[in-house]
Amino acid sequence: MRVLVTGAAGFIGSNFVRLLLQKYGSDAEIIVLDKFTYAGRMENLKEIMDKIELIKGDIAKAEDLEKVGDVDVVVNFSAETHVDNSIKNPEPFIRTNIFGVYNLLEFVRKREIDKFVHISTDEVYGSIREGSFKEEDRLDPSSPYSASKASGDMLCRAYHRTYGLPVVIVRPSNNYGPYQYPEKLIPKFIILAMHDRPLPLYGDGTNVRDWTYVMDNCEAIDLVMKKGKAGEIYNVAANDERRNIDVVKLILKYLNKPESLIRFVEDRPGHDYRYSIDSTKIRRLGWKPTTSFEEGLRRTVEWYMKNRWWWESLIK
Ligand SMILES: NC(=O)c1ccc[n+]([C@@H]2O[C@H](COP(=O)([O-])OP(=O)(O)OC[C@H]3O[C@@H](n4cnc5c(N)ncnc54)[C@H](O)[C@@H]3O)[C@@H](O)[C@H]2O)c1
Repeated sequence: MRVLVTGAAGFIGSNFVRLLLQKYGSDAEIIVLDKFTYAGRMENLKEIMDKIELIKGDIAKAEDLEKVGDVDVVVNFSAETHVDNSIKNPEPFIRTNIFGVYNLLEFVRKREIDKFVHISTDEVYGSIREGSFKEEDRLDPSSPYSASKASGDMLCRAYHRTYGLPVVIVRPSNNYGPYQYPEKLIPKFIILAMHDRPLPLYGDGTNVRDWTYVMDNCEAIDLVMKKGKAGEIYNVAANDERRNIDVVKLILKYLNKPESLIRFVEDRPGHDYRYSIDSTKIRRLGWKPTTSFEEGLRRTVEWYMKNRWWWESLIK
């Protein structure tokens, strides 16, 4: 099986490649294509470099995709992913998350490929006060990031319906775990707290997110790669909802640091209050998360404590 994994120098993609190597060994030939933006790092692939074929390339450039030979499966993780960056400058989000997805779909259209697994996000549904979104619910994105991801999903659906492409969409909830770039809440706050620096928490900290440990999400993506039905969408969430303030308090507890480090700061514009997705469909396919939030967060804190080499150069 030849698998093209795009964006695998990032957080989830690099963990996914590690999982594929663990599960399939030499039965899986893995080609990683990544643009190596600030979020894509060689450090994320360090110990598996000799087991993959690496191409430095941009999914928004058709000529870069031409460097890839024949493959059986494509899994697309590549994206601009930080909501705050999308508010400051949406352009790279439009380019990669929309035009890049179009290019990948064209790449797939020209070849005989068994499956194209596109990684989307729960943010495409927007905020929900009560209950949980199902896969067929309407999309209502709030940020330029989530709007660009929703547009990518629409193109995937259209290419399935129009050209019969074997596209499957995965919409995971918030992920956390090793190798996450420290712009995101959990790694950022772990590193700040390790330095006894204030933790700037948006608004009053009551926004709710549903946290999934990254390896559980990678297991779900692997399952979809094998058993997901073309044209379908699968929500992936551990259904372990937490208020941001409670997440931060738990990080401080694990690091044995005082809650007085928390500082409430002006809220992010268009900040969605709560994300919640129904994951019945992926569970019916045979997935269930195995890592509780407490256990996953403890492992994540320990990883950042033990792997200063990975993040120290990123800290000003
Ligand atoms: N992290 C989460 O909590 C989360 C939750 C739900 C969905 N997602 C989705 O999962 C995917 C992976 O997220 P992540 O957190 O690993 O992201 P990340 O920001 O850590 O990594 C993104 C990767 O994509 C690469 N990339 C960016 N633009 C590219 C381009 N034009 N061509 C090729 N490569 C490019 C980057 O270099 C990087 O390696 C994204 O599609 C994201 O929208 C993430």
